Formats: sequence, C-alpha cells, structure tokens
Amino acid sequence: MDTTIALSSRVLKTENVNWRDFKFIQQEGFKDLESDAAHRLKASILTNNFTQPFYVWEDQDNGTIFCLDGKHRTLMLEALIKEGYNVPYFLPATFIHCDNKKEAAKLVTIYSSIYARVSQQGLFDFMKEYDLDFTELREQMDLPEFDMLEMMELLNPTDAAATQAAEARANLQERFIIPPFSILDTRQGYWFDRKRKWISLGLESDEGRPEELFMARSGQSSGIYNLRNRMREATGQDPSWDEILKEAKKRGMHVYTGTSIFDPVLTEVVYSWFNIPGGQILDPFAGGSVRGIVASELGYKYTGIDIRLEQVEANIQQGKLLKAERANWITGDSSQMNDLLPESFQADLVFTCPPYADLEVYSDLDGDLSTMDYDKFLKVYREIISQACGRLREDRFACFVVGDIRDETGIYRNFVSQTIEAFSDAGLVLYNEIILINVAGSLPVRVGRQMANSRKVGKMHQNVLVFYKGDPKKIKENYPEIEIKDISENA
Ligand SMILES: C[S@@+](CC[C@H](N)C(=O)[O-])C[C@H]1O[C@@H](n2cnc3c(N)ncnc32)[C@H](O)[C@@H]1O
Repeated sequence: MDTTIALSSRVLKTENVNWRDFKFIQQEGFKDLESDAAHRLKASILTNNFTQPFYVWEDQDNGTIFCLDGKHRTLMLEALIKEGYNVPYFLPATFIHCDNKKEAAKLVTIYSSIYARVSQQGLFDFMKEYDLDFTELREQMDLPEFDMLEMMELLNPTDAAATQAAEARANLQERFIIPPFSILDTRQGYWFDRKRKWISLGLESDEGRPEELFMARSGQSSGIYNLRNRMREATGQDPSWDEILKEAKKRGMHVYTGTSIFDPVLTEVVYSWFNIPGGQILDPFAGGSVRGIVASELGYKYTGIDIRLEQVEANIQQGKLLKAERANWITGDSSQMNDLLPESFQADLVFTCPPYADLEVYSDLDGDLSTMDYDKFLKVYREIISQACGRLREDRFACFVVGDIRDETGIYRNFVSQTIEAFSDAGLVLYNEIILINVAGSLPVRVGRQMANSRKVGKMHQNVLVFYKGDPKKIKENYPEIEIKDISENA
C-alpha cells in the first residue's frame, strides 16, 4: 500500500438546517422506494423520530445546499406535514466537503439508503448527466442486481460490447473447446494452446513418410507436390523430402518447412461436437495416426483404412507407443470397404480428409485415388463415400475436411460441391459448413506473384463439411452435453 497518500476527513460539520430549502442533484426516479419502504420509513420516523442527519454539500459559489442523502426522508416529511403532523423545519445535516458538483454527484451514487434502491435507468441518466465513471464507482456502490454488462454497454457501448464479447467467448470455449462458429481459426491463441497440449502427448502423423520434413498442406503451394510428382516420374522412385527440398530451393521455390500433422484440435472438436460418447469412428482415408490417437485418447473407438501398407504399419507402431488401444488401422482400398470391415461393423461418425484429387500423389498403387484422372477419381471417391455412409448408423454425423483444387488450366474443379453432391446421393444432408482458416505458411511470399500474374487469391482455408444421416430432431436425445477432457493431465 502506498503510505504517502494521506487520508483525510471530508466531514465539515453537523448543524440544524432548513431541510425544505434543500436542492437535489439527482432527478426524479433515480432511486425508487422499495415496495413497502414508504410504510417502513414512515413507521420509523413516527416511532424513533430523527436519529440520523441528512448528508449535504454546500455549493460555495451560491450557498445552495444540495442534499446528498435523504431525499425520500424529505418527501416523507412533506407527506407527514400534509397529514397534520408537526414536523420541525430545522433538522441536523452533516456537511461534506466537495470541490464541485460532479464530486457531490459521485457521493449521491455511493450513499446507500436502506429504503430506496437505485434504478438502472435512473443511474444511467445520472452517470451521463455528470459524466461519471461507472467502472470506478461500481465497486463502491451498493447496486441491486441489474445487469452490469448491460449497464456498461449503455454507458460505454464499444468497451462494454468488447468485454461482453470476450466473456461470452471464454464461456463458449469452456463449453465447446473452441467457439462453435462457422469459421474455425487455427491462427488464434486458444487454438495454438490446445494444439500444444496435444503435441505434448507425442503426436506424429507423417511417420509413414520417408522424412521428418512434411510440407504442410495448409501453407504449401501445390507446386511442391507437383515437383515431387515430377521427380518421381523422372526417376521411377520416391524422392526423399530432403531431395525435394534441395530441388525446390534450387528452383527458387519457397518451401514452408514447418512439420505438419493433421490438426489434433480440429480432430478433437469434430469428435466432441459430432460423435456420441465412446462412439465408433470410421476413417476411409486415414493418412497419419493423429485421428486414431486423438480418438483413443478421448475414449472413442477408431477404425482407419489406408491403401499404403507403410503408413498403416507406422500408425500401428505409433498407436502402440502412445497406448492408443481403441485405435485400429487396416491396410486396403476403401472402395472395397465392405470386404475389409466385418459385416457387423457400424460407425457413429465418419471422419476423414480425402486426397484432394492428384494435388499430392501418395503412391503408385492401383486404387490410390491420387493417381487417377479426375473423372475416375470422382467416380471412386463417390463410391467410397457411399459405402462409408452405408456403414454409418442412423441419426449420426459424417464429416469430411476438403479443399478445392484447380485443374491444369487453373480453374477450380468445384470439388467441395462435388463432395456435397456425393453425400446427398448417399442419403445424407449437409448440416454444417465450416471454414477452417489455416496458418499462412509460405502464402505471403507466394501470393504476390500469383496475384500479379493470374489474379489468383491466396487460398488459406479448407472446408469442413458436416453431414447428417437421419432425423435431425433426434440430435438432442442422442448427443449429450459436451465434456471436455483435460488433456494436460497426460502431458
Ligand atoms: C489426404 S491423405 C490424408 C492425409 C491426412 N491429411 C493426414 O495427413 O492425416 C489421404 C490418404 O488417403 C490414402 N488413399 C488414397 N486412396 C485410397 C484408397 N482408395 N483407399 C484408402 N486410402 C486411400 C492415401 O494413402 C493418403 O494417406
């Protein structure tokens, strides 16, 4: 505490004054008498007479005496006079020092009456009139339970709206992990924080890939994938990421070297929002291990299919390491899903991130979607969606993370709409469309040239499409309150 601030008394004197000469700073309606307060006040005056002085401020400029506390008493005294009571005009008043009317007005807000309560509108008008700082005064005031935020917003619209928005957002995070809006912004601090917790569990998604360097799909140009594909064609073998990186640098390409895994926060959000507790997940394009590990960690069962044996082996190894007992990976072609899964297998959620046509070619295996021309790709892709939806229970969700791709001439293929169409043909409805904003990665370096040369804006989002199978009215009964796991416990 700062002991250099000297406290002093502002009480000047107490003496008898004519209360009928009092002026008031507050307007009518500033304080309302509590419902039976008039009756209690009257009873108290008649029984106890005058036991308390008024509080007043004398304006030295003109000698006016402003009553700071006692307005309802003066009203009651007038009423008693009318009723025939003999009321003394001179009653004790305690004079308080104030530099000016604004200071006096502050005291009016602070003196609390046991009979009268300040009304929200009354206080608002008063604060405005005397330009008082509500945030300073609210701590000292005996305020009834009116809405503080509303009051702040009334008094200071921008600040209060921001405070309210921040509080509402924090509340949404507590309930849903991430605020459940149609935009999921992976650049936000809360996203990073949650992601760091997941990573600390030891997640790695690209261990099936030859090198630890994996180009983030989000921040990477398709050029890097094209380069990889061309190098593979030229040599007939898979180039290592080191080789790709070297070649890319030689060509002056900008490479975003942040290692990337499928986003565990997006995974957690989708599972928590759109799966039933403990529900079975089906992932027809598993890729790395993240979706399986996160599922197991959160108590869901997971079955992921991927056509590449080395990826599946790596996932299984990673699953063992992290004790992901509920995750299960199968090697195979998802267009043959019915042969790969037991007949009785049913899913509570379909969740995946499919190949974006040939944007990245994963292997040269027959059946690998990324090796097909676009027409064939779409045909097989639709077939896989149809089979996955066939394995989905009634009244359940399916979620695909997709991004549109351009054809050889630079025109968008409309892959997002084609995905929606495939689900619609499989009998599901589009229930939520969410835009996932990715970190910019190397985009700021690349976008200038691409915009200048061909007017292509930098794409830094993907689409999270959420479909529903069944009767949406049943959602409330099937999907209970969301429980958020404290994953830091496991870190
Ligand atoms: C977009 S990737 C998934 C990558 C994901 N974003 C990740 O890193 O976790 C798609 C996966 O689909 C697999 N794939 C391609 N065609 C397939 C098919 N017909 N059946 C099953 N998996 C297939 C590829 O091997 C690749 O791992």
